[in-house]
Parts: sequence; structure tokens; C-alpha cells
Amino acid sequence: MTSILFVCLGNICRSPLAEGICRARLEAAGLAGRVRVDSAGTGDWHVGKPPDPRSVAVARAHGIDLTPLRARQVSRRDFTRFEHILAMDASNLSDLRALSPDKGGARLVRFLDRDVPDPYFGGPDGFEQVFGMLSDGVDVLLADLIERI
Ligand code: 4NP
Repeated sequence: MTSILFVCLGNICRSPLAEGICRARLEAAGLAGRVRVDSAGTGDWHVGKPPDPRSVAVARAHGIDLTPLRARQVSRRDFTRFEHILAMDASNLSDLRALSPDKGGARLVRFLDRDVPDPYFGGPDGFEQVFGMLSDGVDVLLADLIERI
């Protein structure tokens, strides 16, 4: 089964949003059972916590429920458990590269052709902007994947 892991720093702002958007789009396309989707953080500060309330709010405004999600830290094992590991920014990508096995395992790339900015220290506008970027990116990703599954 196709499998996708979205990774950011804390797994409470960007990557849970990406996971929620991706799950919602797959469900809408009738493909929920065909693609496994998860998210994780490179850091461990928020492990076990629900997504940031500002991510929950922006997702809810777009009809997506993030409340069941809980943060976890990415591990080396994820490189054999997922086909695609998608980093939110260049720093996440570099941390993931350091953790990755020497060869084999997941295809590791930055999710978009630019960094998804970390909205944690900003206001609600940042979360709406991130939602838009992630939403467009998930559409492109799924259009590409659907051709191949
Ligand atoms: P995320 O945002 O990586 O998109 O989940 C952050 C969440 C928490 C922190 C930094 C970024 N933090 O420093 O605690």
C-alpha cells in the first residue's frame, strides 16, 4: 500500500494539518483504504499532545477534524515503514537525512519546492497561509500518486 509520512519539527502545527488535509482528500476521492497517511516531528517536546489549537481551528474552518491526532517523534523505523517521507522545510529535511539509513528505505524529499513556514511563533494568519500551501501541495501530490496506484 502507498504510504506517506509528513514531518515537521513539533508535529503539532504543520504536519498534522498536512495529514488531516491528505486524509480528507483521500476520503473524498474514495481512496482512504488505499493510502496510509501519518505525521511525525523531528523533535520530542510535544510527544503525546494534540495538535496546536490554531491548527485545529483552521482545519475545522475547512471542515477537517484534527482532534484525534497525537504528536509523535519520527524514528529510524519510519524509513522502512513508509514509502514517502515529506519534510516541511529544509531544516526538517536535513534532520531527517541525518537519521536516515545509508541506503534503501523511504523516498525522502521536501514536500514543496519551498519551505512551509513554521507558524508556531506567529498569529492565526500564518496558520491560514500554511493551510493554503499544504492544501495546494496535497492536491498536486495526490494527482501524481493516483496516476500510479
Ligand atoms: P511544527 O511547529 O513544527 O509545525 O509542529 C512547531 C511547534 C512547536 C515548536 C516549534 C515548531 N516548538 O518550538 O515547540
